[in-house]
Amino acid sequence: ILMMAVSVVIGYLLGSINFGVVVSKGLYHEDVRTKGSGNAGTTNILRTYGKKAAALTLAGDMAKGAVAVWLCHWGVAALTGADVNGVYAGYLAAIGAVCGHLWPIWFGFKGGKGIAVAAGAILASEPVVLLALLIVFFAIALTTRIVSLASVTVAVLYPILTLFWSWYTQRSLLFTGVCTVLMAVLVVWMHRANIQRLLNGTEYRFGEKKKDE
Ligand code: G3P
Repeated sequence: ILMMAVSVVIGYLLGSINFGVVVSKGLYHEDVRTKGSGNAGTTNILRTYGKKAAALTLAGDMAKGAVAVWLCHWGVAALTGADVNGVYAGYLAAIGAVCGHLWPIWFGFKGGKGIAVAAGAILASEPVVLLALLIVFFAIALTTRIVSLASVTVAVLYPILTLFWSWYTQRSLLFTGVCTVLMAVLVVWMHRANIQRLLNGTEYRFGEKKKDE
């Protein structure tokens, strides 16, 4: 139990390194949370500062999610001598990292929406699931040019695909189910304003002049 709690905390502290804030403050001496959609994430960095800054943010946010999961997985598996414990610790670290990204302890608890950090965590826990999600994400993002629509869709798909994958690989359905649904709920909840705009038909599209906020 202690190791599981430590995994959440390690995930949270790593997740709190919000690269959207780091990149905008470090390179542009501004805070991306005062620009565009106000979100500290890759999409808003892309719309505000362009591709290079977005690539840096995406890489950093994905890396911290992956590192949190890998670290806790291998640490707990080694300490307890059972890989399955590492798998559970990895899921808890992933939830911690997403929470850190959304509510970063280092940056006044105002962060992003969790897509990139979750993608990094999924890369470390179930790369097959990530591959499927990426295909869906890019199919939607490239055809509609609305990133939030792609984000919300893959967030909802994530627990469903993971359950199939867990069943196929004979892992605990209950544990993975609870953890992945929790991640999905967090990410969808953070997109609530985007969902409202999608329903109103006012969500921002890349390539459009009009800003929605
Ligand atoms: O992952 C964030 C994206 O789905 C939406 O970002 O800045 O358009 O609210 P934004």
